Amino acid sequence: KDDGNGLDKVVLKTPNGASAEVYRHGAHLTSFKTASGKDVLFVSKQAVFKPPKAIRGGVPVCFPQFGQLGPLGQHGFARNAAFEVVGSGDNSVTLELAASGKEDERYPHPFQLRVTVTLADESLTQKLTAINTGSSPIAFTCALHTYFTASAIDKVRVEGLDGVGFTDSLQGGKPLTQEGPVVFDQEVDRVYIGTPGSIKIFDDGAGSCVEIVKEGFPDAVVWNPWVEKSKAMGDFGDDEYQVMLCIEPAVAGSGAVTLQPGKTWNGTQTLTLSNV
Ligand code: BG6
Repeated sequence: KDDGNGLDKVVLKTPNGASAEVYRHGAHLTSFKTASGKDVLFVSKQAVFKPPKAIRGGVPVCFPQFGQLGPLGQHGFARNAAFEVVGSGDNSVTLELAASGKEDERYPHPFQLRVTVTLADESLTQKLTAINTGSSPIAFTCALHTYFTASAIDKVRVEGLDGVGFTDSLQGGKPLTQEGPVVFDQEVDRVYIGTPGSIKIFDDGAGSCVEIVKEGFPDAVVWNPWVEKSKAMGDFGDDEYQVMLCIEPAVAGSGAVTLQPGKTWNGTQTLTLSNV
């Protein structure tokens, strides 16, 4: 279906009223509304829906590079590319990027990248599948760069990372260890390395909890741009840092995945909403 700006998107719905929207551009999930009526994902009011620019919010797919961890541009090129819809089922859709190796001269490797989104009433699963379709090994880092809504950032805490080591991107990658929940009272940009499979976002303002269960992604990035970075981003409102946070299942600080010819790698995240 056309989103009104000439871009294709797929809308998923459950009989009980949950919905999700996935753009062909970047296989970008931009909306997940639960049957109980909560908007789980944040999209900036200033987001630009114009390829090849990545959409600011939802879940940009960072592949084959997370951040600056390689020779490519920030977060790789999948989030800027057009995917094809290659499958659909009950409340699910699969999109594919069949990369020839000519997309970016800094990554001359053919691969297939598939993103499958499956919707349920109070949860959503996103599966990322990479297949090496070439004849030599490929290496990649990646992330599901998930932007969550927050009622107010000072009402939010992230549980599940206590005792986990992280590198602080705001201190040149300094290695530190998390103590207690993650709270937000300043800019945060961290790569947590080798995290547990379950991370929970408690929002005391909304009386809700979103659990992220991840498999295949050893790491998790936590990001909030705070005041100055928000002002510096043209496609993000100056005050929107107060109503969002990013938790990103990732292959980042643990090192790249190496995939032999013909082999497949999978990573998934499932987001489940509950009231607390
Ligand atoms: C996060 C990074 O994953 O993405 C941050 O850790 C970065 O450093 C943020 O600012 C947004 O990146 P971009 O390229 O979408 O502006």
